[in-house]
Amino acid sequence: MPSKLTTTSSREKSRKWYERAQRSLVEGVNSPSRGAAVFSPGPVVLERGGGTRVWDLDGNEYIDFMMSFGALIQGHAHPRIVEVASQAIAEGSHFAAATPAEAEAAERVLKMVPTAEKVRFANTGTEATMLALRLARAHTGRTKFLKFEGHYHGWYDAYCLNGNSHPAQLLGPRTNPARFADSEGIPASVLDDVVLGPWNDIETLKTILREHGPDLAAIITEPIMANMGCILPREDYLQKVCDLAHDYDALFILDEVVTGFRYAPGGCQQYYGLKPDLSTFGKALGAGFPLGAVTGSREILERMRWGSEMVLHYGTFNGHRLTMKVVAANLDLLMANEAAAYGKIYETGNSAIEGLQGIFRRRKIDAIVQGFGPMFQIYFTEREAIHDYRDYCEYADTEKYSRFVHGLLDRGIYMTPSNGLHWIISTAHTAADVEILLAAADDVCASLA
Ligand SMILES: Cc1ncc(COP(=O)(O)O)c(C=O)c1O
Repeated sequence: MPSKLTTTSSREKSRKWYERAQRSLVEGVNSPSRGAAVFSPGPVVLERGGGTRVWDLDGNEYIDFMMSFGALIQGHAHPRIVEVASQAIAEGSHFAAATPAEAEAAERVLKMVPTAEKVRFANTGTEATMLALRLARAHTGRTKFLKFEGHYHGWYDAYCLNGNSHPAQLLGPRTNPARFADSEGIPASVLDDVVLGPWNDIETLKTILREHGPDLAAIITEPIMANMGCILPREDYLQKVCDLAHDYDALFILDEVVTGFRYAPGGCQQYYGLKPDLSTFGKALGAGFPLGAVTGSREILERMRWGSEMVLHYGTFNGHRLTMKVVAANLDLLMANEAAAYGKIYETGNSAIEGLQGIFRRRKIDAIVQGFGPMFQIYFTEREAIHDYRDYCEYADTEKYSRFVHGLLDRGIYMTPSNGLHWIISTAHTAADVEILLAAADDVCASLA
């Protein structure tokens, strides 16, 4: 084994702590994606992080490629973020009152996001997508909206349809997909307002819209599908979806919670040259602090202005002062030398992708690496590409992926074993981190049947 690789000596403390946590927390965690539903026999319990590294309770060190599901665009405990957050706590972290910090953060968002004429801050990506839908409904006077199979927009009732994978033979026709609620406890009437379509398939979307288009308040989409790994849009697909939405006077909502501030300073709308009516953000914008944001035209956002016909959006923690300070510092870091920050992310990510592809080729393992730059995913499959939810359900060997990642965890690489998530490159990652990842991946592949 190459000398730079670390090996996990013991996870005894993680195991014991997980046992203890299960007595007070459901599954010992606060989100099922962190517990035994994904990690076997249980999670690696993390204690601290710095740069690209995290350490578990047993003192094992890992290079983190999950980065809080993408929230940590500057890595762990970036000195500037630590400084700003520490100062903000000392001054009073939040007042639920007007502060200069919220306008300072907002001004930076407007500068970076091409279609942002106004911004409203919330606390999570879920809150942002909830608000976007409410705004779209108010603006159009319509109730129904269209979401795509396999897209995740948070855990709000209306979005909890076909967000998880299901056996391919159960998916039904593309023009009328079988519908799977992702959760118990959601009234059927809520999901009745959701029109479902397959992604990356413009002809089928046209067919579905012929029936449902006139009733739609909005079409919501992730620009790059990030919750079945990393699935890229076909050429011009997103622009065509936007045009189709507008043909039916529905809004085009771009959910950039994962992609925002990551693929470009202005997210995927900048990268692909799109003009969404509303956009949602979270994750990277908050650099590790809980945050959501909705941007769009002044006309639509101003519907929240107080009055008898307003769109209601309250929240004790909206515009949280400490978080706003962090947002401004985070965006300043990204923009201080934009070319260097994004250039480094792209270079590091692309070298990881090419390196992994090379390993799979050399070892004759049927696997592909999809994505580019800041985000990618590995699929164990004989296919040349995974284009949508249906491909993912049918062709991605998610069990093999889980074994692969568990092997990496034993070799000092931290990543979730869920194939539905994706590898994240932060500004902190270096060529040396990639070298260690590739050595670990090569070592795991040697033993991967
Ligand atoms: C595309 C997308 N939208 C919305 C959300 C919800 O964000 P949050 O987890 O901050 O509520 C997520 C979370 O993973 C997401 O991936």
